[in-house]
Amino acid sequence: MATSMVIGTQWGDEGKGKIVDYLAEQADVVVRSQGGNNAGHTVVVDDRAFALRLLPSGILYDNKTNIIGTGVVVDPKVLLNEIENLEHEGKSAQSLQISNRAHVIMPYHNLLDEAEENSKGDLKIGTTKNGIGPCYADKVNRVGIRICDLLDEEVFKAKLDYNVRIKNKILREVYGSTEAVDYFQILKDYTEYAERLRPYVTDTNYNVVTAIKEGKKVLFEGAQATMLDLDHGTYPFVTSSHPIAGGASVGAGVGPNYLKNIIGVVKAYATRVGEGPFPSELLDETGDYLRNTGHEFGTVTGRPRRCGWLDLAVVSYAADLNSLDYLAITRLDILDKLPEVKICVGYTKNGEAVKGFPADLRELEQCEPVYETLQGWQCDTSAIKKYEDLPEAARRYVERISEVTGVRLGIVSVGPNRSQTIVLHDVFAN
Ligand code: GDP
Ligand code: IMO
Ligand code: MG
Repeated sequence: MATSMVIGTQWGDEGKGKIVDYLAEQADVVVRSQGGNNAGHTVVVDDRAFALRLLPSGILYDNKTNIIGTGVVVDPKVLLNEIENLEHEGKSAQSLQISNRAHVIMPYHNLLDEAEENSKGDLKIGTTKNGIGPCYADKVNRVGIRICDLLDEEVFKAKLDYNVRIKNKILREVYGSTEAVDYFQILKDYTEYAERLRPYVTDTNYNVVTAIKEGKKVLFEGAQATMLDLDHGTYPFVTSSHPIAGGASVGAGVGPNYLKNIIGVVKAYATRVGEGPFPSELLDETGDYLRNTGHEFGTVTGRPRRCGWLDLAVVSYAADLNSLDYLAITRLDILDKLPEVKICVGYTKNGEAVKGFPADLRELEQCEPVYETLQGWQCDTSAIKKYEDLPEAARRYVERISEVTGVRLGIVSVGPNRSQTIVLHDVFAN
């Protein structure tokens, strides 16, 4: 069975898109299984950057099947725009398949996301305002509209009518919103989207499992990351899906035994967009340095990303939650000029080592990160192709990450391009 999975181990934006694009060369099928256009995966090919949001990061090859699986929430307008943009760039989305079971983001989801955020004051999450949470909430509440419903005019009209009536009431009466949605406008727009999406829609659950059984190489692409997981992240400052490895089983519709070679992507430092705890955050000039050197501004919202030292309490937690087989360490090059680099290797509370990861955010606030200071390497790593050619201090840094987390090194990335990828293990091997 040749499957592999790429998972974010921190708060997102670790470079999953780059790693998926790199590994996709060996893959036959690339599958997204959760999240939606809250994701922003930048893939650089021949110095051209593609910012992918719903399209899987295997789309830039001509000969791969790319699947938007059941657990993804699909905004048809965003997806069609993305397909159009790709075509303008001379690429094709012909290989795309969309799950007939995936849920559809509707205009009222965007309005509710905005209204809910605005009503929360200090409790606001800092969402991407793409309607992700409200769409998943409707799914759980069993009033969502799936892609197969969108393609059936009669079913779609009935579900839309129900939702528009309820959502407008909530918008007006609960949130005091002056904005409302119009049934006929949505019907017109979404009927058009449906016809344009119809050729891509299929039973992807069946197709993914069949591909695995036929011995094809299937690569699962995580979006968001472990600390944004709805159950296991820093709730409520999380997204509304399950970005962890188990989530891919549910989201793609494949049994857990089919999932092998789970790769945790670790940015060589830490970033977070939006609100919520971030124990190793740097609010000083080192934080500014990481933001400026790393161009740490959100792909989706343009917001400056909060920056900090690498937190291995977080990555070790991710190693367990995802049963990681390998680490892919990215953006090592961003640390190239620092004279010394710190890693948080765990937390203490009242002088005692903290075991596991605190659920209670007030307890997390009381945790003190324990730092190790490692020597910097102060040389340009961005052109290095072989692991043994990395400066000793850089090797020491990545090896320490592997030691503390107990996960072996698979890949070290020293730049956004495919060629800037150092491979230590064939992470697609059985
Ligand atoms: P994702 O959401 O996990 O796919 O990550 P993003 O695409 O949002 O952010 C990662 C950014 O880092 C993108 O602009 C990538 O092109 C870039 N990137 C990935 N790996 C590396 C690396 O090793 N070094 C540098 N300098 N940039 C990288
Ligand atoms: P990729 O796949 C970083 C964050 C948002 C917010 C929280 C909830 O590019 O790594 P949502 O819109 O999902 O309801 O927002 O989650 N968030 C991300 N942060 N990278 C992402 O995706 C994210 N997707 C959501 O900033 O804090
Ligand atoms: Mg991103």
